[in-house]
Amino acid sequence: MKKLFFYSILATLAFTLSYCGASKKSAAGVAKVNFESNVLGIMQSTCAPCHIPSKGGKKAPLDTYASVSKHIDDILRRVQLNPTDRGFMPHDNPKLSDEAINTLKQWKSDGLIEK
Ligand code: HEC
Repeated sequence: MKKLFFYSILATLAFTLSYCGASKKSAAGVAKVNFESNVLGIMQSTCAPCHIPSKGGKKAPLDTYASVSKHIDDILRRVQLNPTDRGFMPHDNPKLSDEAINTLKQWKSDGLIEK
């Protein structure tokens, strides 16, 4: 009888833990993409040095919210071209990962949130 009691406590505990875990996950799943946490890092790692003035870039700066949000349509178009196409970005570099491209698309559809 004692054993049964012990197992029922255990089951309740397991249920509670998994329930809390699940609700946390879904909250993270609907988190919106924002510039400071999700987009800036992609720009700094894949568009450097050419578009990052602090790294000596001479092309249109892509390290501020204002400039990236203004150019987002051109950016999305260029990163989805074939690397051999004219205008492909990042110029002379491998294509962005699908994950990075999806993050940029999601940023736009979420409404270009700054932070
Ligand atoms: C190796 C250098 C280099 C890298 C890295 C690079 N670019 Fe460029 N970018 C250029 C050059 C050169 C041009 C001008 C030629 C053109 O328009 O195709 C340009 C032009 C652009 C333009 C047009 C705006 C303008 O002022 O001409 C956009 C938008 C752009 N790049 C986006 C990006 C994005 C987004 C990344 C990172 C994913 C990136 N680039 C990475 C060299 C680079």
